[in-house]
Amino acid sequence: MKRVIYPGTFDPVTFGHIDIIQRAMDLFDEVVVTVAKNPVKTNLFTVEERVEMLNESLKDFNNVIVDSFDGLIVDHAKQVGAVGIIRGLRAVSDFEYEFQMALMNRKLSNGIKTIFLMPHEKYTYLNSTIVRNLAQFDGDVSGFVPEIVINKLKEKSKDT
Ligand code: COA
Repeated sequence: MKRVIYPGTFDPVTFGHIDIIQRAMDLFDEVVVTVAKNPVKTNLFTVEERVEMLNESLKDFNNVIVDSFDGLIVDHAKQVGAVGIIRGLRAVSDFEYEFQMALMNRKLSNGIKTIFLMPHEKYTYLNSTIVRNLAQFDGDVSGFVPEIVINKLKEKSKDT
């Protein structure tokens, strides 16, 4: 049973993330999608809201579990018995940051491997900030995120 962990901020989840999860599912028996903390980011959605959106978006995938963790991702990977950490590489610009993180995680725990997967090229320009910005100005985000995210973004813009 090979399990991997796919950590991210997921604020909110996009079709680009789901593309990576599908690719990971083709390679591993189980994918744990973890809402993790990037301390430099201020988030629009709470951890609970992000987990809820992921659960709903991934409900048709049998071998995916969604959880959250506030701490070092290698510790959580060990806790859940994962053999590796999945990260997406969308463009060369992602490489430097991802390379540093992968090497640091290797230093912290030599047994946990980082596996990079590339999403479909139609998602190379996509990120959660762009989605949040579009939604804030009533732009159409339907091509980029699942329905639950569209609804949650609408609720947020009503609240603010
Ligand atoms: N499709 C669309 N967008 C994607 C994507 C894909 N396939 N892959 C990444 N992105 C986007 C995300 O939406 C996000 O966009 P945003 O910056 O606008 O929010 C951005 O790319 C990168 O986000 P993410 O993959 O969520 O990484 P992150 O840098 O926010 O967080 C953590 C990475 C949470 C995994 C990392 O901070 C972490 O491990 N934290 C725990 C503490 C720890 O262990 N630190 C030591 C690491 S050295």
